[in-house]
Amino acid sequence: MAKTRVKKIKAKIMKGIILAGGRGTRLLPLTKITNKHLLPIFDRAMIDYPLQTLLSAGITNILIVSGREHAGDFIEYLGSGKDRDATFTYKVQDAAGGIAQALLLAEDFVDGDNMTVILGDNIFGENFKKKITKFKKGATVFLKEVADPERFGVATLKGNKVVKIVEKPKKPESNMVTTGVYQYDNSVFDIIRKLKPSDRGELEQTDVNNAFIKKGLMNAEMVDEFWSDAGTFDSLARTVNWVIERRNK
Ligand code: DAU
Repeated sequence: MAKTRVKKIKAKIMKGIILAGGRGTRLLPLTKITNKHLLPIFDRAMIDYPLQTLLSAGITNILIVSGREHAGDFIEYLGSGKDRDATFTYKVQDAAGGIAQALLLAEDFVDGDNMTVILGDNIFGENFKKKITKFKKGATVFLKEVADPERFGVATLKGNKVVKIVEKPKKPESNMVTTGVYQYDNSVFDIIRKLKPSDRGELEQTDVNNAFIKKGLMNAEMVDEFWSDAGTFDSLARTVNWVIERRNK
């Protein structure tokens, strides 16, 4: 009698990834003695904020990618995740070869699931639970209108479709920029493997996103509430002020 093969289908879950590698040179001399993402934003370390963004969206299986120096401090500070009903995994990016290079380190951890990626210096005032759970396949970028688009990946939109993203253009085509939250399915890793380093020697997340745009697999969500990166002294100060204002409300 012929045996019937039962193929096990693994239900996809949403994994979380915090990218906290990089050199943090824009915050020198402070980043000589510690990692950028461990610097204080008022009463907590910077990394607490992106972590809270993932946790409040219901994502509890989280990988933290950090640089080699101070990697142990992340474990010391965040632990196993047990006290937040979460599981934290740690991975080291040996040298700062770009956001996409850091993301490639997450392939085994993701193990065929979908992922929400957040940059470790991005602070949001919004609960993304509804927006994040909409994700099915391809990629989603989270966009925000800003006054200084030339500091970011700048998106050109046709209707509500993103048709192009340019990294830090001198003459931005719009004020709509990619924040540091991205969602991908597992095909992102094949895309990263085919990337070539940019002029600044990094594997660029913007190139990853443009590859999804070319395939017609890019979606966009708008960020409605506060967003700032905290990678420069000005943006760090702006973020600390926002945290203090929010506490005093
Ligand atoms: O904040 C949003 C912006 O972040 C986007 O609009 C840009 O398209 C994107 O390229 C990025 O721009 P930045 O110039 O701000 O990226 P930065 O090099 O500061 O890196 C941001 C975070 O990414 C950093 O806090 C940690 C992580 N990272 C970065 C690099 C270069 C890594 O984990 N590994 C790396 O090698």
